[in-house]
Amino acid sequence: MTEAAATTTPEVPTRRRTTNVGIVGAGAVGATIAYATLMRGAAQQVALFDVNGAKARAEALDLSHGIQFVPMAHVEGSDDVAVLSDSDVIIFTAGAKQKPGQSRLELAETTIALVRQIVPRLVEVAPDAVHILVTNPVDVVTYAALKASGLPSSRVFGSGTVLDSSRLRFLLAEHTGVAVQNVHAYVAGEHGDSELPLWSSASIASVPLLDWPGLDGTGLLDAEVRDRIARDVVESAYRVIEGKGATNYAIGLAASRILEAVVYDERRVLPVSSLLENYHGISDVCLSVPSLVHADGVGDRIEVPMTDAELDGLRRSAEAVRATAQRFGL
Ligand code: 2OP
Repeated sequence: MTEAAATTTPEVPTRRRTTNVGIVGAGAVGATIAYATLMRGAAQQVALFDVNGAKARAEALDLSHGIQFVPMAHVEGSDDVAVLSDSDVIIFTAGAKQKPGQSRLELAETTIALVRQIVPRLVEVAPDAVHILVTNPVDVVTYAALKASGLPSSRVFGSGTVLDSSRLRFLLAEHTGVAVQNVHAYVAGEHGDSELPLWSSASIASVPLLDWPGLDGTGLLDAEVRDRIARDVVESAYRVIEGKGATNYAIGLAASRILEAVVYDERRVLPVSSLLENYHGISDVCLSVPSLVHADGVGDRIEVPMTDAELDGLRRSAEAVRATAQRFGL
């Protein structure tokens, strides 16, 4: 060894600040969000909090056993909320499970009580976090969480109709034979029965969807087809719940995609559910409309042009959500 080499201080690599993601609820949805987040490398610390500590720890252990195969990360599970300390983003999935045939709005009571109990504790342990609500009925739950948190409305929003829009795009892609990535269409309103596709602003490969001629020129997206697809989107979750008791994969991917828009400060337009203030005249209700998502949470809502029928639909959806919120004293 040369003298110079012997006296050189080895360079200690500086640790980059990690992205910490906390997940409330280690059920199928929470665990799948953790899995999707790890697969996509969107966080270096993933913490699962659940009142059932054994379940949270077991999910964390199972996920940890696969860390060799994904971008480096650390996973922890606990029934102590402190496990979420200093999370940058907290994704809330805890709540009652939707039974076959039960609407999302029927789940409200149990879940709102839970949100009121847990959210203030989350704010205590992770005062700077952006909160993404996933638990159903997500629009009402988001409103309840916002009130319980005392945080600015930009920092508390719901996964909303990101998943429904993905279902809509999937069905349109199947129907037209064009890749889902070339289908641009949003579902707005409640994440639930009163939601509506914004057909008039949708496009396929830059062709307005309402003018889509079909690949063989046979005009495949007439009103009857659109109505059927819209119904299919609404019924999608019911169909999955009927068959396997719950949905988890698509919401897991959707939530981790929203999370990425926050952690990478993307300013991505996503139809998340947030508190609207004079959006086409709609205020004081959490509802999904195309919105910018970035490091501070949800920013500008995009004033997508709407037909009178779409606006009526959005207002009706706002009323349905507001009525449920009021029923629970929100
Ligand atoms: C879903 O749409 C049930 O909200 C859940 O998959």
